[in-house]
Amino acid sequence: MAGYESKTATPMPNNLEAFFMPFTANRQFKKAPRMLVGAEDMHYVAADGRKVLDGTAGLWCVNAGHARPKITKAVQDQVAKLDYAPNFQMGHPLPFELAARLAAMAPEDLDHVFFANSGSEAVDTALKMAIAYHRARGEGHRTRLIGRERGYHGVGFGGISVGGISSNRKQFGALLPGVDHLPHTYDRAKQAFTRGQPEWGAHLADELERLCALHDPSTIAAVIVEPVAGSTGVLIPPQGYLKRLRDICSKHGILLIFDEVITGFGRLGKGFASEYFGVVPDMITCAKGITNGTIPMGAVFLRKGIYDAFMNGPENLIELFHGYTYSGHPVACAAALATLDTYAEEELFERSAALHGYWEDAAHSLKDHPHVIDVRNIGLVAAVELDPLAGKPTARAYDAFVKCFERGLLIRYTADIIALSPPLICGKEHVDEIFGTLGDVLKEAA
Ligand SMILES: Cc1ncc(COP(=O)(O)O)c(C=O)c1O
Repeated sequence: MAGYESKTATPMPNNLEAFFMPFTANRQFKKAPRMLVGAEDMHYVAADGRKVLDGTAGLWCVNAGHARPKITKAVQDQVAKLDYAPNFQMGHPLPFELAARLAAMAPEDLDHVFFANSGSEAVDTALKMAIAYHRARGEGHRTRLIGRERGYHGVGFGGISVGGISSNRKQFGALLPGVDHLPHTYDRAKQAFTRGQPEWGAHLADELERLCALHDPSTIAAVIVEPVAGSTGVLIPPQGYLKRLRDICSKHGILLIFDEVITGFGRLGKGFASEYFGVVPDMITCAKGITNGTIPMGAVFLRKGIYDAFMNGPENLIELFHGYTYSGHPVACAAALATLDTYAEEELFERSAALHGYWEDAAHSLKDHPHVIDVRNIGLVAAVELDPLAGKPTARAYDAFVKCFERGLLIRYTADIIALSPPLICGKEHVDEIFGTLGDVLKEAA
C-alpha cells in the first residue's frame, strides 16, 4: 500500500491525559492504547505498522473505503479554493448543488435538505422542525415526541430524550419533557438466529395506538425510529412493522422520522433503508456515509409539504430560526459530492447488495461457536450476541474486541453484542477473514 511508510512514521504522543476520549473507558484505554495512524481501502494501519482489516467502516461511516482518491482530491482542492463561507443570508454554490443531488436520490417527495454537522445535530434539527412545522400550520399543540426503547439518536438533549439506551440518558438529568417511547422490537426467544427480518413482532407497532390513546394524538408531533437500530446492537425490524408505524402516523397526522445515520448511503444495498423496506417517512436524518466519514456532515431530508409549510409568511422574514455556523460547509459539501460520485461510479450500493447472501452465510456460520446466543443480519450488517459472563457484562465482547484487534481485525461491540459493518468495497476474501478471525477468537476464549 503506497504511502504506508510515511503514515506509520507518525510520532506517538507522550501525553495521553489531556484528551477526554468520547464513549471510552479512558483510564483503561490509556494504560494500553490502540492507535490507528493510517488507512487505505479496507484497512487501517496500527501504530506498530500492522494492517488492520476494518470490519466496521470506522464507526459505520467509511462506506466507500478509506482514503479514496476522488474524495481526498475534492477536499484538498476545495479547502484551497474556498475554505469557508457563511450560509446565513449569504450562500455559495456547493450546498445548493449537493442538496439537489441528494434530493434526487431520496424517496418520493423528500426533496428538501437542511445541513448539519453530525447525526446528533441532524436528529435535533429534525425534532425541532417537526414541532415548528405543526406550529406553522396552526397545530402548536402537537409538541410530544415519541422514540423507542433501545433507540440511538446521538447525544444532543433531543436525541438522548427520544433515545432509549439508559446508559446514555441516566447521567444527564430529566431530559426533554413530553417524550414517550415505543417498546423495542427484539425478543430473543422468538427471533434468535433469524436471517434478515424476523417474522415475529409487527404487532409491536400497535403500541403507538396505545400511546395515542394515552396522550391524545393531537398532542404528538413526531415519531422517530431507526429503520434498523444500529448502535444498540443491531435490531432488525420485524416484517411489516415499519409499514404499520407509517400507517398509524398517517392516520393521526403524526410525522414519521427515519433516523438513517447508519442505514443511509448503501448499508442495506440501497440509497436509504426507506427504499429497501418500501416505507416512506416524512423526514430522514443522515450523516456518516454522506461524506464517507472524511469531513463531518449531517443532513435532514424533508417532504415538500413540510418545507412549503414554512414558506408562508412575509418573504423578508427568516422562516426557521435554526442553523449552524457550518451548515453546508464548503469542504464538507465537496467531500459529499465526491462521495456520491464514488458510490455511483463504482456502483457500491449494488455491489454490496450482491454480497449480502455470502455475508449472511458467513455470519451464521458462527451459530454454534461458544457463548453465541444469537446471530442476526441485514444488508452488510451483522450482529453476534454473546452470553454475558456472570457478573461481568461486556467483558466477553471486550475481550473478543481486543483479541481481534491484536490479530488485525477491527470489530465493534455494545454490551455483549459484536456488530460488524465493513466498507461496501468489501470482497468475499474480507468476509472470510472477518468471520474466520472472530470465529477463532471465540473458540479460543471458551
Ligand atoms: C441512528 C443514529 N443516529 C444518530 C447518531 C449520531 O451521530 P453522530 O455521532 O454523528 O452525532 C448515530 C451515531 O452512531 C446513529 O447511529
